[in-house]
Amino acid sequence: MIEEIRKSMLELCKGKSWDWEEHLDQVAEYSKMLAKKLDADEEVCELAAWLHDIVKIKDSKRESHHIKGAEEAEKILEKYSYPKEKIQQVKHCILTHSSDENYMPQTKEAKILASADALSHFDSLLSLAQYRFVLKGKTAEECREFLLRKYENSWKKILIPEAREIARPKYEAIKLVLCK
Ligand SMILES: [Fe+2]
Ligand SMILES: [Fe+2]
Repeated sequence: MIEEIRKSMLELCKGKSWDWEEHLDQVAEYSKMLAKKLDADEEVCELAAWLHDIVKIKDSKRESHHIKGAEEAEKILEKYSYPKEKIQQVKHCILTHSSDENYMPQTKEAKILASADALSHFDSLLSLAQYRFVLKGKTAEECREFLLRKYENSWKKILIPEAREIARPKYEAIKLVLCK
């Protein structure tokens, strides 16, 4: 089931203006790595990783992709007769991955997905800059401020300690480059 979902998600990523394929690969890898480290449910973490941005990949302008994404993931997993309590766990991960204060991660698996998503952003400084700068038409200064805010927020509010250790060298380098 995971392999089928992985393939269909990678198929969905084709031809988009942002490298979603790379993002999903990175989030899935970090999710599995952290799940092993923290003795969490690796299957739930991996499924949540592949599905977490499904709605945003389909339509980048769609608001609340975490809420709609959780609903869409539920429909997909029900088709595979995935156990109900596991579907709820995957849904909770997706619902809480976006730093929405109304939906904060409560489980180990949800904290892992949010961290894995943020870790992927630490690997994608240039892609994120390109997205803001070229595709969103922002100035270099707006871009710098946005990135600095984003990485500081990830560092302070999203990353669990195990993920912070992975991100530390990149965070320090990014701060050196972006701080005035
Ligand atoms: Fe997302
Ligand atoms: Fe994401």
